Amino acid sequence: MTTAQSRPILPSVILETEHLRLRAFVEEDIDDVHASCVDSELQRWIPIPRPGSPYTREDAEAWCREVAPGMRTGGEGQQWAMVERRTGRLVGAVGLVRTLWAAMTTEVGYWVSPWGRGHGYATEAAVAVSRWAVDQGFQRVEIKAATANTASRRVAERSGFTFEGVERSAMPLHEGRTDLAVYSLLPGDLA
Ligand SMILES: CC(C)(COP(=O)(O)OP(=O)(O)OC[C@H]1O[C@@H](n2cnc3c(N)ncnc32)[C@H](O)[C@@H]1OP(=O)(O)O)[C@@H](O)C(=O)NCCC(=O)NCCS
Repeated sequence: MTTAQSRPILPSVILETEHLRLRAFVEEDIDDVHASCVDSELQRWIPIPRPGSPYTREDAEAWCREVAPGMRTGGEGQQWAMVERRTGRLVGAVGLVRTLWAAMTTEVGYWVSPWGRGHGYATEAAVAVSRWAVDQGFQRVEIKAATANTASRRVAERSGFTFEGVERSAMPLHEGRTDLAVYSLLPGDLA
């Protein structure tokens, strides 16, 4: 898990859950990533590529080819494509982000494609990735969601995370800023 330099990197793994296969992004995911990320509900809560800028096909190409793989090799965490096992179709993304190696903390982030929502997939993926993070030795796994993002907050709660409080004005959206509800999972919570 440690490189010759200083920043550790996570091992590249495929995770299987009841309905999902979590694997690295590939070239063939570009069209579905683009179709997912231009969705208005996703854009409401995740201001990609950056606040105020529209999401383009070039952004989806960069995500699949460079950004997502680079998050693992750069030591920030790891990104997985959520693929529905039954159909083989991409239905979302889940990742470990903002990893602080000195503190052994990391954060789970996710989105689900419009055609994959309402089946429990975000919860299934968040459970798998957060438990895997604990298995890697992380001492604290966080989920942060805009306070008004009810669906995402339910994902955190259903995944066994504990609500801790609110970070005020913590994140820019395309329109304005939002407070973030902070949730955490500690290894002892799984005992
Ligand atoms: C949030 C999101 C990932 C949820 O994905 P999902 O796979 O549909 O979630 P799940 O099926 O696991 O549902 C989790 C819970 O949220 C609830 N939920 C789902 N959509 C909801 C909505 N629009 N409003 C309120 N609750 C909702 C579900 O009913 C479920 O709760 P329950 O068990 O009490 O019934 C998805 O809606 C999404 O991608 N939204 C846009 C991007 C985003 O907000 N990402 C998170 C940023 S922090």
